[in-house]
Amino acid sequence: YRILLLNGPNLNMLGSREPAVYGAASLSDIVSELESAASTMNVSLSHFQSNAEHELIAAIQQSLGQQDYILINPGAYTHTSVAIRDALLAVAIPFIEIHLSNVHAREAFRRHSYLADIAKGVICGLGAKGYHYALDAAVAALQTTK
Ligand code: DQA
Repeated sequence: YRILLLNGPNLNMLGSREPAVYGAASLSDIVSELESAASTMNVSLSHFQSNAEHELIAAIQQSLGQQDYILINPGAYTHTSVAIRDALLAVAIPFIEIHLSNVHAREAFRRHSYLADIAKGVICGLGAKGYHYALDAAVAALQTTK
């Protein structure tokens, strides 16, 4: 299976960014752990992080026919981006939305997601482990549908 991991704005600062909220692990720590988990599951995992909405949209568009599943932490674009929602609808690739923090326990504006209702599932509040749970769920879903 081919799975794309997408991380949105400010997630390149993980480790130093509000560690009490987002944890001490850097994005490269999280990605390399996920890559090794993926390789033991025979999954080809690609990763892309961007602070730019149009680059995330381009990565989603380019996934058409190239990826079987998307794992996405859209960062703040979760709460703002109709365009990322439309890109995910356009390619119709199943995806899981991930947040390190519990977005429901924070500011009210973080409780709304433009993606959650079209996601296969949403994982939040479980820190970096959430990426692993999402990978497990994606692989299990792919194994039952193909
Ligand atoms: C986040 C939650 C968002 O509200 C925030 O804008 C982020 C990170 C998370 O992983 O907890 O940048 O997606």
